[in-house]
Amino acid sequence: MDTKLEKVKQKLKKYNQEHLLAFYQDIEEKENQEKLLDEILNLDFEEILSLYENSKIDNVIKYKLSPLLHIEKRKLTKKECEKYSAIGEEIVKSNKYAIVTMAGGQGTRLGYKGPKGTYEIKFTNGAKLSLFEIICNDIKKGNELYNVTIPWYIMVSKENKNQTIKYFEEHNYFNYPKEKVKFFTQHTIPLIDIDGRIVLQEYHKIKEVSNGNGNVFKAMKEANIIQEMKEKGIKWVSFSGIDNVLIKNVDVMFLGMIIKSNLQIGSKSIFKRGALEKLAVYCKKDNHPAILDYDDIDLELSEQKNENGEYLYREANMLSHIMDIDAIEKVSAKELPYHRAYKKNPIINEEGVKIVPTSPNTFKFENFIFDAFKFFDDMFLLRVKQEEEFAPIKDFTGIYTPETAKDAYERIYKEYGRKNN
Ligand code: UTP
Repeated sequence: MDTKLEKVKQKLKKYNQEHLLAFYQDIEEKENQEKLLDEILNLDFEEILSLYENSKIDNVIKYKLSPLLHIEKRKLTKKECEKYSAIGEEIVKSNKYAIVTMAGGQGTRLGYKGPKGTYEIKFTNGAKLSLFEIICNDIKKGNELYNVTIPWYIMVSKENKNQTIKYFEEHNYFNYPKEKVKFFTQHTIPLIDIDGRIVLQEYHKIKEVSNGNGNVFKAMKEANIIQEMKEKGIKWVSFSGIDNVLIKNVDVMFLGMIIKSNLQIGSKSIFKRGALEKLAVYCKKDNHPAILDYDDIDLELSEQKNENGEYLYREANMLSHIMDIDAIEKVSAKELPYHRAYKKNPIINEEGVKIVPTSPNTFKFENFIFDAFKFFDDMFLLRVKQEEEFAPIKDFTGIYTPETAKDAYERIYKEYGRKNN
């Protein structure tokens, strides 16, 4: 008798996951059968299923809520801008600044084949730029301005790592000095269907996907990047995603403001115009910086103002953060909570057929980077203009599409909007 197989069967029975062996006899190669058995034996079912159970609990508001103070960029005087910029500039020029781009997401809404960063936008002037190239160009501009080459770290997932690196190789790293670009891989976690069952990607493989951008700190630690940064004397690190074409990764004024405020973390926000727009906003929960999910915001809260007539809960998160290296090290040792989202994912169905769903079919568990901020008493928040700094690509329909991102980019980078004859 195959004792390994027996062991697996027992484990699956215990957790009610026997369907994972439903196609075991149909797996053609013995080696692949073994792979599946090993995968099951190595999986922490207790942890995954408890995530599913725990995230079912209603999100009852049980904390003390208060606003997180912010500064509006447009209200700064020229003199103030220059003063803060000089502080940030000094850090960048002395090689104490690095950039982390989080590109490990699945991009399920966009549903583009391939890593989201390789998605190319075709501009009016005929130029075609991928999201990676757009981000790279922004960093290169900073390099030119301050006469440095900023180390660029890119977080990828097991799913998109090979394709991402291949894309960079094929495009000669967009002429960024290759030795200054480093990829690191984040963790994955199984998906669960509506009945609490772990799902298969192939007959011999459990479907696992990246576990959220909040995994960035642990992933950096495991890849020895935090240590490497410390050895290089890097003091401040920018964190942002891959899909915002207007991201400013080398914003010395923003950096200078965080330093001047004596805080370890700074984020940018955009003003949430519509009270019930689906945007998460910054706040404080039990006196610690946090994010208030849009499901937890009602009209009354959204309309609250201070004595100066300023809204208290309208600073929306735009995934643009700067943290100091000690803060990064600190949170890399912490456990962040998992959030649950219902998403579209191709899986093997009960009949053993691979399906590409047209509507959400699986629960995905994700850590979010902003959950790390609660480990601090305060953070700096700068409100910037959406039309200048936030134009992400999320989907082919809705408010954040390739088209809206293209238009926003052409409004700022005018040469891309002109037809070349
Ligand atoms: P989103 O939360 O918008 O996710 O990521 P996404 O993967 O791009 O798209 P959907 O939700 O599946 O449609 C915001 C940023 O965080 C990164 C993404 O690559 C993007 O730059 N991210 C997200 C990661 O690096 N890892 C993750 O596990 C999730």
